[in-house]
Amino acid sequence: MLSPQQRVVMISGANRGIGKAIAQKLATDGYTLSLGARNKNSIDKKNLSDSVSVFTYDASETGSAEQWVAGTLEQYNRIDAIVMNAGVLHPVGFGETDESNLDQMWDVNFKGPLRLVNAALSALKQSGHGRVINIVSLSGKRVLSGSNLGYCASKYAALSLTHAIRHEGWKDGLRATAICPGLVDTDMVSHVDTPTDEFKITPEAIAASAAYALSLPNDAAVAEILVNSRLESAW
Ligand SMILES: NC(=O)c1ccc[n+]([C@@H]2O[C@H](COP(=O)([O-])OP(=O)(O)OC[C@H]3O[C@@H](n4cnc5c(N)ncnc54)[C@H](OP(=O)(O)O)[C@@H]3O)[C@@H](O)[C@H]2O)c1
Repeated sequence: MLSPQQRVVMISGANRGIGKAIAQKLATDGYTLSLGARNKNSIDKKNLSDSVSVFTYDASETGSAEQWVAGTLEQYNRIDAIVMNAGVLHPVGFGETDESNLDQMWDVNFKGPLRLVNAALSALKQSGHGRVINIVSLSGKRVLSGSNLGYCASKYAALSLTHAIRHEGWKDGLRATAICPGLVDTDMVSHVDTPTDEFKITPEAIAASAAYALSLPNDAAVAEILVNSRLESAW
């Protein structure tokens, strides 16, 4: 397998939260990075090396994924991995008549990643050891409440996308991993009160999981990494 320095990794939503932690970890590990953010100026380039480029990417805009992929290929001539991290969470449960939040979650959490993979598929296959790391959620694995229906549905779809990519790219060495964390300490869930600080996973722990998945050879394919900082139990 190529060294990290030779591998070009795209990361969406790299400006804050989990995406920022992944960008910092992979930059430290020496990867060449193509970072996507809605606002390019929101990317903190401190602690990032010169082997980092920043592109505009809005998951809910048609054409944006294709432009970011084209820009990355123009600059580096290859794409070895995509970390599909950008995501939104809205409380959409039963009885909701306004579907705008549901539509936005579908757009950002599922259609955006699908567009990215479609745009980068041939480059990822050409790599011979392409990787897709999809930041899904434990909400893509189990449903803990009816009020989280919309987010769960979008994340179950994101999980199915990950597994479909495994089938689509297998013979060309493309491997996909869904990272499914419980609560992570970011803006997304800052409104959620927890009994202890340890209840929330650090973004750095998710970054370590992403780096681990990227480090694995083709014959150690890990489809899902379920991450928690606490034991989930019935009582
Ligand atoms: N935090 C958790 O508890 C948790 C648990 C499991 C899974 N996750 C997943 O982890 C991923 C990262 O979440 P986070 O916790 O780091 O949340 P966050 O701090 O709220 O960050 C969300 C990121 O997604 C970006 N984003 C939102 N809408 C976008 C769009 N239309 N186009 C492009 N980028 C967009 C945001 O960019 P802007 O700054 O421009 O808004 C930001 O970079 C998400 O997929 C989330 O579902 C989070």
